[in-house]
Amino acid sequence: VNQHVVIEEKRDSIGVKRLSDARDEYTQIKPYAGMPKEVLVLYSSKARYRVPREILFWLTVCCTLALVAVTIAVIALSPKCLSWWQASPVYQIYPRSFKDSDGDGVGDLKGIREKLDHFEYLNIKSIWISPFYRSPMKDFGYDVEDFRDIDPLFGTMKDFEDLLAAMHSKGLKLIMDFIPNHTSDLHRWFNLSRTRDPHYEDYYVWTDCKPDGPKPNNWVSIFGNSSWTYDEVRGQCYLHQFLKEQPDLNFRNPDVIKEMIDIIHFWLEKGVDGFRMDAVKHMLEAPHMRDEPQVDPNKPPELVTTEWDLHSDYTTSQVGLHDILREFRAQMDIYSQEPGRYRFMVTESYDYEEVYKTMMYYGSRLEKEGDFPFNFYLLDLPHNTSGVWAKHLVHLWMGNMPKGKWPNWVVGNHDRTRISSSAGRLYVRAINMLLLTLPGTATTYYGEEIGMENINVTANPQRSPLQWNADTNAGFNEKTNLTWLPLHPDYETVNVEAQMKDDGSVLAQYRFLNTLRQSELPLNRGWFCYVHADANVFSYIRELDGLKRAFLIVVNFGKESAVTDLSSVRELPDELKVLMSTTIANDGKVFPKSRIQTEVGEGLVIQYSTNTRFNPNHPEECYISEKACYLETIDILYKC
Ligand code: GLC
Repeated sequence: VNQHVVIEEKRDSIGVKRLSDARDEYTQIKPYAGMPKEVLVLYSSKARYRVPREILFWLTVCCTLALVAVTIAVIALSPKCLSWWQASPVYQIYPRSFKDSDGDGVGDLKGIREKLDHFEYLNIKSIWISPFYRSPMKDFGYDVEDFRDIDPLFGTMKDFEDLLAAMHSKGLKLIMDFIPNHTSDLHRWFNLSRTRDPHYEDYYVWTDCKPDGPKPNNWVSIFGNSSWTYDEVRGQCYLHQFLKEQPDLNFRNPDVIKEMIDIIHFWLEKGVDGFRMDAVKHMLEAPHMRDEPQVDPNKPPELVTTEWDLHSDYTTSQVGLHDILREFRAQMDIYSQEPGRYRFMVTESYDYEEVYKTMMYYGSRLEKEGDFPFNFYLLDLPHNTSGVWAKHLVHLWMGNMPKGKWPNWVVGNHDRTRISSSAGRLYVRAINMLLLTLPGTATTYYGEEIGMENINVTANPQRSPLQWNADTNAGFNEKTNLTWLPLHPDYETVNVEAQMKDDGSVLAQYRFLNTLRQSELPLNRGWFCYVHADANVFSYIRELDGLKRAFLIVVNFGKESAVTDLSSVRELPDELKVLMSTTIANDGKVFPKSRIQTEVGEGLVIQYSTNTRFNPNHPEECYISEKACYLETIDILYKC
């Protein structure tokens, strides 16, 4: 009670004094918690309180502004991050041959799901699965009966959705095959077209012809012989640039384009991450339907039966084709807005010597098309194993690719002899090294990571089941003794399980190189510079401005062991230490730069440190997709 009285008295006295001569009195009192506003104002306006307060205020303002400015500068100066399709190889699964979960001898979607750990092990994020649509399988799924259904051989729509969900939960992307050029002759549209349903009448390419009369023109199918077949139901001929069971769609009909776009939407809605667009150059034909010029004008017309006999001037790469593909791309862009959900598009077109035609699928400065067209030129590596040839094939792409685009490399697929069979087993490791150290996205056809070879059959020798282990059926089918194609007899030694246990295996080296590539800036987005090419060796540098660490790759594609003298390359240090050799015993070896030794089929990754970059002194030997520099002191990349 006494205390209360004292406080009250104090308050009273303050109150009274406030009324009289507060200013003097207040200065006698020390500030205290709970002081009245007047006291507070008095003290807070004093210089010793005001000045620090104002300093703090302006400091906060300045820091905030500086932070905003730094953030804007960092965003403006940062180069674009690599997208998922640039950061990992694209692995092609041929679903018939990957893993059979139900024992019918044919691989399936559940089988793929069972084996997703394989990709985690390899550090691969992008998976392209060849077609699994409902199909009579005349062309193993490239003849689609229903673009919105899964073939029972591969599973159900539920299996697909489960697979996609499982892949996404592991950070894997699923790229589907999309086949715009043709359908199966069992497709509903074809039936409606041959019976002249008014809406579907022009869905395919029809023209008048007689059942036993001459063909409408000399056009040939990619699989040989005339690309025209007479249809009894409609009493006309239809065009098929592939099998007669694969009638070509008529892309001059806007309804067909719309149908295909709807199908693209259907799968994008399901969440697929991209499409490999099949056989795109064939999508349009010249409406005049004239004979194509013969390669050999003197050849009797009845002997003109293969694509090599004709200049395919009226059946491929027609004006308007790129507009359609750019429309497909634009549709995919609608689904690419969310961060991390970019939908990828790659086109398939073999243009052989006409590389400029392939490059058009990259799109133009103003209009996007494919993220890249498949680069098939390395498929020709085995034709002439030499360093000069390897450089020539690499340069076909690098020298013709539009500036700023992203390269890619293919050494095998379901249509081509496996490179380990055509080049020979000796070169398999070197080829994988080339793939994974060149700039751009590597494509790996299933089995290339273990060096699988063709089997000895007349058709489909490159499509045999993946060799998982040394058990019955190589672990491809653990339930029955069926496999749709025979296994390669080497499966007891050449298989995933055995190679996982062996540090020097093709698989271990693939994995090491892929991981190195993804962790080293010079390899994943740096400069690529030619250094040397001769009868045996092809050599190049990967470096990044501002980063001391760089890589020299030396690969012997020739027929003899070689000693390469790079002493004239003054940007290289005098001594070069091998980080990784495809011949495991040579790991860690040190070579003087005047005498770098390689055996036939041996590849070396040499890591070195330098202050002098190669690219500024040799701009015409060097390529980069999107230039970036590294600031070593604060460990950031910036646009330069
Ligand atoms: C592509 C496929 C091939 C198929 C053809 C027709 O080239 O890779 O396997 O036969 O298109 O769809």
